[in-house]
Amino acid sequence: LELKMNLEEIEKGGYDHFMLKEIYEQPRAILDTYRGRLLADQGIIRMAGIDQHLEKFLNANRIIIVACGTSWHAGLVAEYIFEDLARVPVEVEYASEFRYRNPVITDKDVLIAISQSGETADTLAAIKLAKEKGAFVFGVCNVVGSSIARETHAGAYTHAGPEIGVASTKAFTTQITVLTLVALKLAKEKGAISESKFHEFLIELEGIPAKVERALLTNPLVEIISEVYKDSTNCLYLGRGYNFPVALEGALKLKEISYIHAEGYPAAEMKHGPIALIDEQMPVFVIATKMGHYEKVVSNIQEIKSRKGKIIAIVNEGDEQVAELADHVIEIPETIESLTPLLTTIPLQLLSYHIAVMRNCNVDQPRNLAKSVTVE
Ligand code: G6P
Repeated sequence: LELKMNLEEIEKGGYDHFMLKEIYEQPRAILDTYRGRLLADQGIIRMAGIDQHLEKFLNANRIIIVACGTSWHAGLVAEYIFEDLARVPVEVEYASEFRYRNPVITDKDVLIAISQSGETADTLAAIKLAKEKGAFVFGVCNVVGSSIARETHAGAYTHAGPEIGVASTKAFTTQITVLTLVALKLAKEKGAISESKFHEFLIELEGIPAKVERALLTNPLVEIISEVYKDSTNCLYLGRGYNFPVALEGALKLKEISYIHAEGYPAAEMKHGPIALIDEQMPVFVIATKMGHYEKVVSNIQEIKSRKGKIIAIVNEGDEQVAELADHVIEIPETIESLTPLLTTIPLQLLSYHIAVMRNCNVDQPRNLAKSVTVE
């Protein structure tokens, strides 16, 4: 037992929990994900799984993304990127829903399955169904040689390294990185993106690990904020556009490891329901970065403030407008709009981590949850 304990301590590399270690590994994990694929100086993206099946992607009528949990949130971010850059219609489905209805799938469809473990039963079943109907199936997995990696026609690994904490962190950001590379590559092949914009993306993506490092510097502040809100019973997370899935993911992280009820919502939908919940007891985490719908989010923040909700905003460095309204602001670096999820998600991961620790929850193995769900 003692040996096992020591081994675990070594594996945690000086961190108290695997989750924290994995949060901090993200700059490196993202770099490992694009290493050898993103060749900014040559202006190309090299991905064997796409290169060998390029026609399938270019001739696809649409892309269907299937996944569960956090991987489904990465799929939602990917939907925005694929439609925005590569101009291809995308649908994102919970694998469990997709497989149990009678979905319309043809051999002109490309299905992308996203799974950290590569073992999720519902995702695997969705793949088998799509294959039977003639679709081309592409996998985005982390675990090399996993069932989903073997069952798909082609794929791209995330190369995030082992993820031990049940709550997914580095798998999420590396899935987004891989899917961004795929979307950029298709955009280029289709001529849907200008050379200069493509180049700008490659350079910006190369700089993301350093910006994630900077986002991680918010940790001491996030810890202070966690102390203030650790006893909340409900929390609301709001974001728009690319950051709507980040709001969902932030809420999921808090539910999973802190057992606090949290809901993620697209900020504009607040007026259709959640606004009724807002009072002085309700912390609202708002993603309000400069790129994308900033002014609209600011007016959402004003609506929350006039109902006395507590506002914790994630903003870009140097923001003044939101800082005047919010109870707390967490500053992160600026980037291209479609890459913001890679940064905005960082303080939300840290927040759920600290709150879970403060509430004495089992961070790495939350009750009732499993790392990979291999049963229905
Ligand atoms: C479980 C895990 C989640 C994960 C989901 C999908 O619910 O607890 O962290 O996001 O399964 O797993 P996958 O391995 O398919 O990404």
